[in-house]
Amino acid sequence: MSVYSDKVLDHFESPRNVGEIENASGVGTVGNAKCGDIMRIFLDIGDDGMINDVKFKTFGCGAAIATSSMATELVKGKSIQDALKVTNKAVMEALDGLPTAKIHCSLLAEEAIHAALWDYAQKNGLEIEGLQQPKSDIHEDESEEED
Ligand code: FES
Repeated sequence: MSVYSDKVLDHFESPRNVGEIENASGVGTVGNAKCGDIMRIFLDIGDDGMINDVKFKTFGCGAAIATSSMATELVKGKSIQDALKVTNKAVMEALDGLPTAKIHCSLLAEEAIHAALWDYAQKNGLEIEGLQQPKSDIHEDESEEED
């Protein structure tokens, strides 16, 4: 038996939405200096504010790849406001859980989506309600929590 759920293994072995979007509406890159993993999310957002397409590139562990894959599936076809509700908890639930040591990998996914939405907002001079400027390194966050 694996410490990973079948869904995590499935998304790790056959990740959805891998790649890049040329001339993306928004691109977000977030890393974690502690483990060295990096995730990049590309969003294609229509004039109606709907996320038409999303792709990712992740240089990271298996859980980071599975969470990126699931996160892209969860935001695809959604409005920006609904995409903001795709938290790391939502991603973990959709994957039937992650081992404690791998929870930070799902944070990378949440933050990378926020970073891509932030980039979109900056490029278009928009303000997205509820979205704050994301960190480029989520490890800063973790150390604050540990202190
Ligand atoms: Fe760092 Fe998975 S070990 S993202």
